[in-house]
Amino acid sequence: MSIQTVVIDPPWNERGGGKSKRGADKHYPLLSTPEIVQTIYSCEYWNQIEPHAHLYMWVTNNFLIDGLEVVKALGFTYKTNFVWLKNSMGLGQYFRGQHEICLFATRGSRPTQPRTDRRDISSVLIAPKSRHSEKPLSSYDLIESRSKGRYLEIFARRKISDQWIAWGNEINDVDTIEKDSNGYTQQEITWG
Ligand SMILES: C[S@@+](CC[C@H](N)C(=O)[O-])C[C@H]1O[C@@H](n2cnc3c(N)ncnc32)[C@H](O)[C@@H]1O
Repeated sequence: MSIQTVVIDPPWNERGGGKSKRGADKHYPLLSTPEIVQTIYSCEYWNQIEPHAHLYMWVTNNFLIDGLEVVKALGFTYKTNFVWLKNSMGLGQYFRGQHEICLFATRGSRPTQPRTDRRDISSVLIAPKSRHSEKPLSSYDLIESRSKGRYLEIFARRKISDQWIAWGNEINDVDTIEKDSNGYTQQEITWG
């Protein structure tokens, strides 16, 4: 089955300030922006993405402009974004970061999914933080509600479901995502 939606969560070159390692490089290897584009193109699934497709790209606040440039370099057109609002503050030189931005872009003319219920879908997703850089499971639910599968995640660390292809250098297929009968993880329950 060909891929209709791609999610990209790049290892932006966030090294942090000062002598001690406080940036993302403490957790995994980072790439320059041109290397990110090259690595995305090197993904063996990239050519299986349909001409009419949706793209979601996570950007750090420092790399917002780079993110928009990468979206364009990949042949997609930026449309809008949603924001993940976290339960606590992280680091930041001017403001302590408590949100992450996910850019939404399209290629061709793929419409968003018809809404399955009458609720509007907010551009603010409220969810707790878990391990460094890990995106909340509810962000995948949001993406599935707006965009059709099959789904490809580039720079993934876990496979969400059989609808998803996970590609990245830390992929471990035995990682399981434990949800309760309502579809919540333990952390989501703890945070309320
Ligand atoms: C921001 S993290 C992704 C986090 C992930 N979305 C999650 O929710 O857990 C970026 C990932 O890209 C991986 N990465 C770095 N360089 C890579 C490369 N050259 N090829 C593939 N993956 C790479 C990192 O090891 C890391 O797992």
